[in-house]
Amino acid sequence: MEIKHITVAVLGTGLIGAPVARNLANKGFRVKVWNRTASKASAIAQANLQACTSVAEAVSEASHIVTVLKDGDSVAAAIEAGAGHFQPGAIWVQLSTVGVEASLDLARRAEEHQLVYFDAPVQGTRQPAEQGQLVILASGPVAQRVSVQPLFDAIGKRTVWVAETPGHSSRLKLALNSWVFALTHGLAESLALAKGLGVDPQLVIDVVSNGPMDCTYFQLKSAAMLAGNYTPSFSVANAAKDAQLIVEAARQAGVRADVVEAGLRRFQRAVAAGHGDKDMAASFLASDAPPDVTAPGADDDSCAHPPDRACCRRRTRGPAPVPDARSAPACTARRGRGPRGGGWQGLSMGLRSTRGPPTRRIQPQGQGVRSRPDAEEAFNLMLFSLPTGMLGVHSEIRQRKAATAHDVDGIRTDAPPKFASLATAAPMPRSPAAGSARPGLHVLGTRPSAGSG
Ligand SMILES: NC(=O)c1ccc[n+]([C@@H]2O[C@H](COP(=O)([O-])OP(=O)(O)OC[C@H]3O[C@@H](n4cnc5c(N)ncnc54)[C@H](OP(=O)(O)O)[C@@H]3O)[C@@H](O)[C@H]2O)c1
Repeated sequence: MEIKHITVAVLGTGLIGAPVARNLANKGFRVKVWNRTASKASAIAQANLQACTSVAEAVSEASHIVTVLKDGDSVAAAIEAGAGHFQPGAIWVQLSTVGVEASLDLARRAEEHQLVYFDAPVQGTRQPAEQGQLVILASGPVAQRVSVQPLFDAIGKRTVWVAETPGHSSRLKLALNSWVFALTHGLAESLALAKGLGVDPQLVIDVVSNGPMDCTYFQLKSAAMLAGNYTPSFSVANAAKDAQLIVEAARQAGVRADVVEAGLRRFQRAVAAGHGDKDMAASFLASDAPPDVTAPGADDDSCAHPPDRACCRRRTRGPAPVPDARSAPACTARRGRGPRGGGWQGLSMGLRSTRGPPTRRIQPQGQGVRSRPDAEEAFNLMLFSLPTGMLGVHSEIRQRKAATAHDVDGIRTDAPPKFASLATAAPMPRSPAAGSARPGLHVLGTRPSAGSG
């Protein structure tokens, strides 16, 4: 069928949904958009692009439905709102990052509504979306791919076909976000540390530039952090949502994801400090967030409550959700010295003493004992962050003697110490279903990632 005869409903006109809808319209598709906040949908009306006031109105003539909403719940609610109005056999392209469980739940809903489901999260932020340069990580039935490829070509530069069945693309998306979060936090902490140590953070950028650790992302985000430009491309709130999804998926799969957990705490602090709508480069601002905005239970080494207390949830079940300051007061049962407690206290392996080996403390220039020049400390944090982030490992707990740069006066440093061991595969309880429920999956398992695209 000619593109001009294809009607596409785009549900969600946020940072990614709006340019996706515009690019489809510019390529000649007939596009109908719906958004919860109606003014955002009407603001992008143009030729070939009509704003609708209800999901039902948007989907009723559409042969293709595209969802670009915040999370699994908002996507499910939008699809249910369209029930009874879909074209029989319409194709549903699900671009939002919803995680593994929600992706499978949405696939079930697709079946119920007789929709053909494509699990198709995207790689790329606002600018690539505006330029039609997204990478689409697509899973869906081979027979229908010919029908969705023109849409993908309109919004992206590349389609990676991951699998035939849903869920696999959402898994790959989590693995990719783990990498981008490691980059973001590693960079944020390096710059914050340089600043806190009294050296010009620009020196970190100068040393990295044009070397083997340089990349476009490093240049873009370091410039944004130093300029204090947090115009959102990917919001902190959505990044926190995705980090939580990664933590949950990793636990299900029996994979240690310590770096993501630490990064989640940074995002949570940024949200609690009022930076949720800013770009995730605002991880930089989490370095000097005061302790009273720390997510309850987020510091696993700072709370003396037994592990079943809500404030201590993280010690047994992973990071606390994004905090609700009204209902979840910060835990006050701190161990050891200072508001964050001792870096060694409350760690795993049953250590309950309030005194442990002294954490090496790095202090701003002129304020404490130093063993190395300041610029070298800041630069080394960068070096430690990148390889450990890449591997998804963090030996903070298991390599307790390596507390380099972990507890820095006045600067939050959640990135791991330098020992990047094979800790990702360290034994931990596996869910009974782990492994068997993911035939053919190489992305989140402990096997090598051959074939993950
Ligand atoms: N930005 C990126 O770089 C990027 C990259 C890859 C993937 N993603 C993923 O793509 C999806 C959209 O991201 P985005 O950056 O476009 O997010 P966004 O700008 O925050 O937009 C979120 C969209 O979801 C809607 N929404 C939120 N909560 C809702 C609810 N309860 N009910 C109905 N609608 C709701 C918003 O409606 P309102 O306008 O009414 O708030 C808006 O349309 C997310 O899953 C995100 O993780 C984003």
